[in-house]
Amino acid sequence: MAPLLEINNLRVEFRSRGLFRPHKPFVAVNDVSVSIEAGQTLGLVGESGSGKTTLARSVLRLTRAASGSIRFDGHEVTEFGRVPLWYQRRVQAIFQDPTASLNPSWSVQDIIAEPLRVHTDLSGAERAARVSTLMEQVGLDPGLDHQRPAAFSGGQRQRIGIARALATEPDLIVCDEPVSALDVSTQSTIVNLLNDVQRETGVAYLFIGHDLGLMRHVSDRLAVMYHGKLVEEGPAETIYTDPQQDYTRRLLDAAPGFDPAEQQRKRDARTTRAASQVLEESTV
Ligand SMILES: Nc1ncnc2c1ncn2[C@@H]1O[C@H](COP(=O)(O)OP(=O)(O)O)[C@@H](O)[C@H]1O
Ligand SMILES: [Mg+2]
Repeated sequence: MAPLLEINNLRVEFRSRGLFRPHKPFVAVNDVSVSIEAGQTLGLVGESGSGKTTLARSVLRLTRAASGSIRFDGHEVTEFGRVPLWYQRRVQAIFQDPTASLNPSWSVQDIIAEPLRVHTDLSGAERAARVSTLMEQVGLDPGLDHQRPAAFSGGQRQRIGIARALATEPDLIVCDEPVSALDVSTQSTIVNLLNDVQRETGVAYLFIGHDLGLMRHVSDRLAVMYHGKLVEEGPAETIYTDPQQDYTRRLLDAAPGFDPAEQQRKRDARTTRAASQVLEESTV
């Protein structure tokens, strides 16, 4: 079976913004080929500036300066003029800063119902019922649906963003550093939530992150980018236990305390903290 998303020889060039070498385009993504199977997670890692967001934006068609091929379920995304509604429905996104991506003057109800208004012909009452279900699914109290984003913590705001992304029952969610702005204990609760959601719905993720401990927890396959190029890609466990490239090895070495036993202890500690965090969050 063909992958859900298949990227081949993707290249994204930006015109130089600086004074230097103004005619030489800057290659942010250089000949990258990766794919994602339905229901699976591709983790994408690499230092800041390595082209991860540019790749994600190309998939979402927010960056159009792409050459090469991005095929989604048999359709060539790079040939879209206007992004078709069906693609918006099937490919959703969650970003790093939940505050910036939620309209501060809308209620949670309005925010989560918006994609339902655009993509379904549900009645107002049906939308409200669906919003309640979605809020429960992401661990938010549906009784808070008239509150605005400011009333929620960072982790809860990211839950709102996840509920909104799930509203259209997408096949793929592009998650660009969805937990990087959250404190460590909240990070693991959100990662666990995304894993649960995947088990329940079969959604696939393109998951960008830089905490290699957390990435191991979410990724089926892992892709490593460096200066716009894909340096290594494969089953996540293989890359963690037996990285083939020096760059990957250095990334792993640089990850704080990346000794598997040590990581496990940290994860256990995080899970314990996370459990108390969930209690705190649910009492807000
Ligand atoms: N719109 C743009 N115009 C020019 N350069 C850009 C633009 N977007 C990103 N870049 C450059 O492309 C490179 C990769 O950026 P990005 O994809 O955001 O990396 P990452 O997400 O891995 O940190 C960076 O050097 C960045 O400055
Ligand atoms: Mg980025």
